[in-house]
Amino acid sequence: MRSHLISRPTPVEAAPRLAQAIGLAAADLWIKRDDLTGLGGGGNKARKLERTAGAARAHGATTLVTSGAAQSNHARLTAAAGARLGMDVVLVLSGTPGDAVTGNIALDGLLGARIVWVGESGDTALDDAVANVAKELRAKGGRPEVIPFGGSSVLGAQGYVEAGEELLAQLPGLTSVVVAVGSGGTMAGLVVALGAERVLRVHCEAVSDPEQAVMRLVRGLSGEQQNVRLRLRLDQVGPGYSALTNQVEEAMLTAARTEGIVLDPVYTGRAMAGLIAAVREGDVRPGEQTVLLHTGGLPGFFGHPGALAQARSLVEAQSERLYPG
Ligand SMILES: Cc1ncc(COP(=O)(O)O)c(C=O)c1O
Repeated sequence: MRSHLISRPTPVEAAPRLAQAIGLAAADLWIKRDDLTGLGGGGNKARKLERTAGAARAHGATTLVTSGAAQSNHARLTAAAGARLGMDVVLVLSGTPGDAVTGNIALDGLLGARIVWVGESGDTALDDAVANVAKELRAKGGRPEVIPFGGSSVLGAQGYVEAGEELLAQLPGLTSVVVAVGSGGTMAGLVVALGAERVLRVHCEAVSDPEQAVMRLVRGLSGEQQNVRLRLRLDQVGPGYSALTNQVEEAMLTAARTEGIVLDPVYTGRAMAGLIAAVREGDVRPGEQTVLLHTGGLPGFFGHPGALAQARSLVEAQSERLYPG
């Protein structure tokens, strides 16, 4: 059922200069490099796709259909998984074809996916469009299988139960893992593997009801119905999903300039900003073993107008011209 798509275990790297820059001791902070999963530029979604796309292929499907924001990392990695598995891929994306072909969208094209643009729309319109695409493919004799938004079905989230176990084998004494949360599967898997008290989640506004999304998956994975108390930060969203806040800008600069680690403005930059706030408030303390889960998303940097505007002003401030004019 499951396809082998990633390189594992992903590395865990010490981050002493970053630790000290944010108020921890040098030995306290580690980065779990799930941006280095390999397939299609890397990122957390590949662990889910091993199971979801692998199951689709085992069912005899010939086309993967999924949905997301225009700069969806999950969509890009679904395109890559389809290529690796010899399957067609249709991506149903919010936005319009007039949007600049940058970042993940450029890679979607390179990887061979067909893109269906649905304009500026909510979750329901995206789901409806996915259902229509699948229906049309079936009517033409195709064998589509839908991969859920963000890859976050119970099956997909099992990839992060395994990732949590992998991390525990690497750092048995870990106290907290900080993770950016979108559709919730990554966090849900980690909660089941590590326990809710060890997973600090930073909300990124990719879904409207994050608490429910994660709990539904935790229940599905564990088979237990009771609520667990989730550690949750809602303070890094700012004006919305695509906005680049000052805190995230600062977090990205700090990680880049202490460890040479590049974070993205939508997910991992928010996770880092949430970690900085958690240290400031004493929720994450010196002397504890803390892990930042790097979930990838680098292509999104190159498709984010705010991040590129910031980069432009940095480059201007740091440039000198040796030629006239
Ligand atoms: C780079 C990156 N990090 C984190 C996440 C969040 O993962 P999940 O959807 O499993 O909550 C996403 C989801 O799109 C992502 O692309």
